[in-house]
Order: sequence, then structure tokens, then C-alpha cells
Amino acid sequence: MDAHSETFESRLAGNAREIEAVLDMLLSRDVLDDETARPEHLRAAMHYAVLNGGKRLRPFLVVETAAMLGGDRDVAMRVGAALECVHCYSLVHDDLPAMDDDDLRRGKPTVHIAFDEATAILAGDSLLTYAFDIIAATEGLPEAGKLALILALARASGIGGMAGGQALDLAAEKQAPDEAGIVTLQAMKTGALIRFACEAGAIVAGASAEDRATLRRFGERIGLAFQLADDILDLTADSATMGKATGKDAGRGKGTLVGLHGMAWAEATLSGHVREAEALLRPYGDAASVLAKAARFIAERKS
Ligand code: IPE
Ligand code: IPE
Ligand code: MG
Ligand code: MG
Ligand code: MG
Repeated sequence: MDAHSETFESRLAGNAREIEAVLDMLLSRDVLDDETARPEHLRAAMHYAVLNGGKRLRPFLVVETAAMLGGDRDVAMRVGAALECVHCYSLVHDDLPAMDDDDLRRGKPTVHIAFDEATAILAGDSLLTYAFDIIAATEGLPEAGKLALILALARASGIGGMAGGQALDLAAEKQAPDEAGIVTLQAMKTGALIRFACEAGAIVAGASAEDRATLRRFGERIGLAFQLADDILDLTADSATMGKATGKDAGRGKGTLVGLHGMAWAEATLSGHVREAEALLRPYGDAASVLAKAARFIAERKS
């Protein structure tokens, strides 16, 4: 089926099933059981943390960006799986009592509730490191491509990316940042991994430096849109639909643009991000139709 004859939602769902099969294999007892002792309860917690639902939007962006630029689909799936491991680790740690203290994720008990806190911390650690293992071991990817992916993912995940953004997010609970401060923290905690997804698709495809930079900017825009939508949904959606607690950001004093400027401003800004993202795709014409739909989905999603 081509990009025009199926809905965006069914394409996303089909892609999610494929990526889940790859993740299930990568986190199975068979693969993670060689001569090295691997604690089964830790593997089970990693598997639970990853194979528990989720939209799988980040791997979708890797696969669809690579497809637009002529990259290999199986390689993009592996890289998408690696990125999803980092994303799921970030959720496990985000939910810990020391951070957002949440009991529900993707409609199920969070990892520290289903297992215990120490196991949740170690499952997160192990998922993060496993992501780099997956990329390094991917067949069909030139060494230079692997190195570029590993460097970009390390930067997107670490102190200058997701983890640094999470630190700023927690600091913002004590001292409210201004608008620029909120944009920076959101670009880091959420934007960095989404930007990496798009850049990774370009790297997998061996794209030019110019295409890589354009896709990085596209990822940046939709990354900001994604967290803005998440903050709007925290106020407007119910917990059953989201599969996680809602209505908590204001009470915890989270630094959000909705809190600072209100809902009408947030919705107008969200539309602005989508228009800018679409403009970046214009040079690719019809080939970019799936990514353009992804940008709109991120803004209009209901969960
Ligand atoms: C939730 O991400 C965490 C944020 C960065 C806001 P998603 O909304 O992509 O969560 P899943 O993967 O679909 O559960
Ligand atoms: C998530 O931000 C950022 C991460 C790096 C996980 P939130 O704390 O708003 O995400 P949810 O709402 O718990 O999914
Ligand atoms: Mg958080
Ligand atoms: Mg949270
Ligand atoms: Mg949130």
C-alpha cells in the first residue's frame, strides 16, 4: 500500500507492529542469554518497560525519514528500535518517585510499581546502554554511519539533550523559568530525541549534509510541537485516554508554556510550529507527504 491509499493512523499502527516485533526479538530471553550472566528479572523489567504499548512515533519518524530519502528499511527499523529503547528508559526514570512520581504509564502500572524502584533504575540504565549496542551491531550500515548515529544519539540523550532537559524540568518546579527557559528545557527533554529520529533517518539514508540539516530542523519543530501538545493534553485529556496521569503539571509547578501564556496562545503557537515544519518539507514535494502528516498528527493527537 502506498502513502496515498492508507490513512496516517493505519500506517503508524502497521509500523508500530513491525517495530514491536523487532523490539520483542531484541529483548527476548534467547537474544539476551549467552555465556554472560544476565539477570532474568532485569531482562523482564526491560521487556515490560518497552513492550507495554505506546505510539512508537519516534521509530516511525526514523523509518519514514529514511524512506523519503531512499534509506534501507531494515536498518532504519533497527535504529528506530534503539531510539525507542532510549525513549522508554526516559519514561521509566521520568515516572520514578524522585521525578514525576507516577503509577500509570501506557495504561499499565509503571515499572517501579510492577517491579521495584531499584529494578526500574537499572532497567532504565540497561535500556540506554543497549541502544548503543543495537546501533553498533546493526548490519548493512557503514562504520561512518554507525559512528554518526552513536554520536548524535549520545548527544540527544545526555546532559545537552534529554537528561539535561529533565534536570531543567525538575529545577523549574522550584524556580519558574521565563519563556526562553521553558523553550530550552522542552527542546532538550523531549525535542532532542524527536530531532534525533529525523536526523537518524537521514543518516541511515546516507543523505547529504544539507538534507541532514533540513531534517534536523524539521525534527526540532515537531519536537517543540510534541511537548506543547503533551502539556495541552495534560490539561484537557483524561487519564484513561492518555494511559497516564493527567492534570498534574500545574500542581507540581511544571514549567510549561500553557501555564505561562494560556491555552489560546499555546494552540496558536502549536499551529505555527506545524506550518514551519511543513515549509521545511516543501523541497521534497510528494515524497514528504507522510512526514507532513506526522507533523499534523503530533499537533492534533488525542493521546
Ligand atoms: C511521552 O511520549 C513523553 C513525552 C516526551 C511527552 P509519548 O507520548 O511519545 O509516549 P508513548 O511512547 O506514546 O507512550
Ligand atoms: C517527559 O515529559 C519528558 C521525558 C523525557 C520523559 P513529561 O513528564 O511531561 O512526560 P509525561 O507527561 O510523564 O509522559
Ligand atoms: Mg517529567
Ligand atoms: Mg512525567
Ligand atoms: Mg507530560
